Amino acid sequence: MSSPVRKAIFPVGGLGTRFLPATKAMPKEMLPVVDKPLIQYAVEEAAAAGIEEFVFVTGRGKAAIEDHFDVSYELEKTLGERGRDDVLDAIRAIGLEPGQISYTRQMDPMGLGHAVWCARKHVGNEPVAVLLADDLIMSKAPCLGQLIDVHKETGGNVVAVEEVPAEHTDRYGVLDIDSDDGTRASVRGLVEKPDPAEAPSRLAIIGRYVLMPEVFEHLAKFETGAGGEIQLTDAMAKMIGHIPFHGLRFEGRRFDCGDKIGFFEANLAFALERDELRDDIAGVLKQYVDR
Ligand code: G1P
Repeated sequence: MSSPVRKAIFPVGGLGTRFLPATKAMPKEMLPVVDKPLIQYAVEEAAAAGIEEFVFVTGRGKAAIEDHFDVSYELEKTLGERGRDDVLDAIRAIGLEPGQISYTRQMDPMGLGHAVWCARKHVGNEPVAVLLADDLIMSKAPCLGQLIDVHKETGGNVVAVEEVPAEHTDRYGVLDIDSDDGTRASVRGLVEKPDPAEAPSRLAIIGRYVLMPEVFEHLAKFETGAGGEIQLTDAMAKMIGHIPFHGLRFEGRRFDCGDKIGFFEANLAFALERDELRDDIAGVLKQYVDR
């Protein structure tokens, strides 16, 4: 059976201020973890979860993302002449067909909800996934696929969640929980970036969503929330009570690559997973730890 979720939105318009100056002339989504840009991990995860159409919401200075998912004739020719079939495979591995990716532009950075709303014409009236490339997830089964499996069972909205330290609730959308079986939590409320003292729980939304298309009607009202921005969390909150709504504690490990420490840790963790790198990296680490 084909997936009921065929389309995914990738908001990639953010400024990446936390990684300046690296992101002055380069999109933050192109920062590499080991040797692959963050956005490619997200696209590969979506493809592995059965997504067929990929909608990027870009902004100024994001052309490198379009180039990355295009064919590079010069590079392929040169690598071919040099007999570098190994790297040729690596640059062709994404394997999306022409027309599977489309780009739309968020002309003003008015928040995540606004970025998602910008993709509405590409989505139409069907459920849609949203992936935030900053949240890099290492797992056996693709995190988005885990969400889609729950959606197939329950219908409605499904978001990835994890417990965060109490002092970090003001970095996330946080769930107010109705019932909770330890894996799935049924949601009765959502708050964007609450102060720890006011947070309804420590269960925070991680950047993977399956959303019903009604979300666009709520986003279209352009109501602003936390930070004066149009928040996806607020639009989702309005859908509670009308459709099923679940948070899934996914299987896997998430790295917050919007943060320097999380990004560094992701590089270590993904490098240590690679057979050809593990021993050398472990040796380097040991030198520093032993000092
Ligand atoms: C966004 C969402 C937030 C979510 C987070 C996950 O926040 O607004 O609800 O918990 O992504 O990474 P941002 O990280 O863009 O501030």
